[in-house]
Amino acid sequence: TPTREFVTGLPKAELHLHLEGTLEPDLKLRLAQRNGIDIGQSTVEEVRATYAFDSLTSFLAVYYPAMEVLQTADDFYELADAYLARAAADGVKHAEMFFDPQAHTSRGVPFEAVVTGYHRAAAEAPSKHGIDAHLILCFLRDHSAQSAAETLEASVPFRDKILGVGLDSDERDNPPQKFADVFARARELGYRLTMHCDIDQVGSIDNIRTVLDEIGVDRVDHGTNVVEDPALVDVVRERGLGLTTCPISNSFVTDDMKATEIAGLLRSGVRVTVNSDDPAYFGGYVAENYVALAEAAGLTTQEVVQLARNSFEASWLGDSQRAAYL
Ligand code: ADE
Ligand code: ZN
Repeated sequence: TPTREFVTGLPKAELHLHLEGTLEPDLKLRLAQRNGIDIGQSTVEEVRATYAFDSLTSFLAVYYPAMEVLQTADDFYELADAYLARAAADGVKHAEMFFDPQAHTSRGVPFEAVVTGYHRAAAEAPSKHGIDAHLILCFLRDHSAQSAAETLEASVPFRDKILGVGLDSDERDNPPQKFADVFARARELGYRLTMHCDIDQVGSIDNIRTVLDEIGVDRVDHGTNVVEDPALVDVVRERGLGLTTCPISNSFVTDDMKATEIAGLLRSGVRVTVNSDDPAYFGGYVAENYVALAEAAGLTTQEVVQLARNSFEASWLGDSQRAAYL
């Protein structure tokens, strides 16, 4: 099994990272103070103690309220800049970062403040952190399709600042079909498409089938339950479709890292990648996720190198840029 130093030194792309999931307790406290918000805790240890959950639903119940400290474009800038600094230390060279505009616009924060703050950090990232950074707008699947459609239209003036769209939040009773029209419109607008198919949700395997056959995504986030249908694994492999898995996140949401499943997909030639999801909440940035998976699954150095190669191959870099990393 390769060392932490080896993993850190390996150039990587991170493709499944929620910017709101990088809100570390110390930054949360500082933003609360600056914005005059009483969050009910006054030390880093007290805030960290609120970051406790054992399922996707209980995680999301902590995650959304925490975002109230994010108010201004500068707040979003600082959040993204802090992530990019941390990612650079882990050897990330390319990042495609999710953000949840509806979690902010629904609280009265202007869409423009969210996008311009995050984008300023992304635009500075090549010179400041040595990272090529891009944004993926995620719709909240537990909000209405109408709300997603309005969010998509609000993004149009910022089209050049956003690489693609995704779908996250609570999958239960919110299958991909609910957003088929929104994603068709996003494709017309030239966005790349991805969707979460979370770990061990009711209907995970059916949802993976739907995103492949009906939505026509360019990538699947998590998607690890595809192992339940070998014929579907063949489709994913043949299409060269990227799966963005998140080992440490899995161990919180389901009590199982799914190391056997992820390693099996890797060894069968599926373009599987390793990512950190919500590192401030799950306690591991991307290098720690590689190490945790490698140790749990007994990955060889060569297999870890393949994971890093997959991260660039599954990225939405242009062909010539991608070639520079391979
Ligand atoms: N939002 C942030 N992280 C998420 C995850 N792992 N699944 C669904 N929604 C999320
Ligand atoms: Zn996620």
